Formats: sequence, C-alpha cells, structure tokens
Amino acid sequence: MPHQPPPVLEETQAISIFTPVNLILLALSLYLIYTRLRPSPSPSPPLPSSSSAIVFKTFTPKTLQPFNGTDNPKVYLAVNRKVFDVTAGKSFYGPGGPYSNFAGRDASRGLALNSFDEEVLTEVGAPIDTLAGLGEEERAALDGWAKHFEGKYLLVGRLVEEGSEEAKEAEKAEKEE
Ligand code: HEM
Repeated sequence: MPHQPPPVLEETQAISIFTPVNLILLALSLYLIYTRLRPSPSPSPPLPSSSSAIVFKTFTPKTLQPFNGTDNPKVYLAVNRKVFDVTAGKSFYGPGGPYSNFAGRDASRGLALNSFDEEVLTEVGAPIDTLAGLGEEERAALDGWAKHFEGKYLLVGRLVEEGSEEAKEAEKAEKEE
C-alpha cells in the first residue's frame, strides 16, 4: 500500500482554539474572575433611630401592662423576667384569645402551673412573683415555655421591680432620649 501523504487542511478546517465550547468556557471563567474580584457591596446605611427600631427596654409590671393587646397595637408578656413581643401571636394573646390573660403580664406562674386562670398571676401593683413554692415539674414546665418563647418571639426587654435602681435608671435614660 503506497504511503499516503498527510491530509492538507484547508484554512477553514484549521484547528482553532475559538470553538464554541472554548468560547463558553472563556466567558464562564471571565464571569467567575469578575465575581471573585468584584468589590463587596457597601455596607447598608445604619437604621434610622425611629421608634420602629428594636430597643431592649426595661419594664416594670406597670409599664408592661399597657401591652395587653387592647391599649397598644403591640402585645408583650414576661416569662422569667424576660419580656417578649408576642404581637405575631395576637390570635393567642389578643382580646378574646385563649391566653389573653397573659398579655401585658408576667405569665411565669400561669405557664408553670399550666393555667390560664387570671388569679394565678400576680397583681400588677404587687412585687414581681419570686416563683416561690413551685415544684420541680412546674419549674421544668416553665423553663420549657421560656425556651418556646425564646425560639419563637423577639426578646424586647427585661422585667424589673417597680422603684428598683434598674427601673429608676431606665426611667432617667428614657427622659434623656
Ligand atoms: C384546654 C386545653 C388546651 C388546648 C386544646 C390547647 C391548645 C393549644 C394549641 C392548638 C396551641 C398552638 C400550638 C402551636 O401552633 O404552636 C397552643 C399553644 C399554647 N398554649 Fe395551649 N391549649 C390548651 C391548654 C393550655 C393551657 C392550660 C395553657 C396555660 C399555660 C396553654 C398555653 C399555651 C401557650 C402559652 C401556647 C403557645 C402560644 C404561642 O406560641 O404563642 N394552653 N395551645
């Protein structure tokens, strides 16, 4: 068999690096390089100091009480001296809701005793319930509820005794605002 000469490529058939696949890969590489090197977006401007900003506040039983779902569009309650914004659960805590007794109140003892009886809760004008006399199971139930609230709602403040140093400081700070 006679030796065949190697085929001569015409110009249009010449092997080119500019194949469609290579062009796509090139575009992809350029895009990836661009996204890596692109300067990160400038940080968002600080939140305006309007009343809509979330501020950790100090409440006393009396200042918590207006957040009972009737006097204020926001509904708050306290568990273990932590105040939660439960507005998202207004169907539970709002007027006519099954747990409206807890709105604007320290709900701790009611949650511990699994009772929505208003009598179980400490009166608004009285010192904060020290939770004395709760049994081990009741305390465990209360801690379980505290975890439920921490996981579901926003912590907006702490509950302190009326007339305490903390309450006075908070009052002073609010006046200075
Ligand atoms: C009469 C029997 C009761 C029934 C049928 C009942 C039913 C329910 C149901 C269906 C939910 C909603 C669960 C969810 O979607 O996450 C709920 C939540 C709740 N229940 Fe009851 N409940 C009863 C008794 C009580 C009692 C006695 C208390 C008093 C401590 C209580 C306190 C709560 C609380 C605090 C929540 C959580 C609401 C929230 O996530 O904000 N329940 N209950």
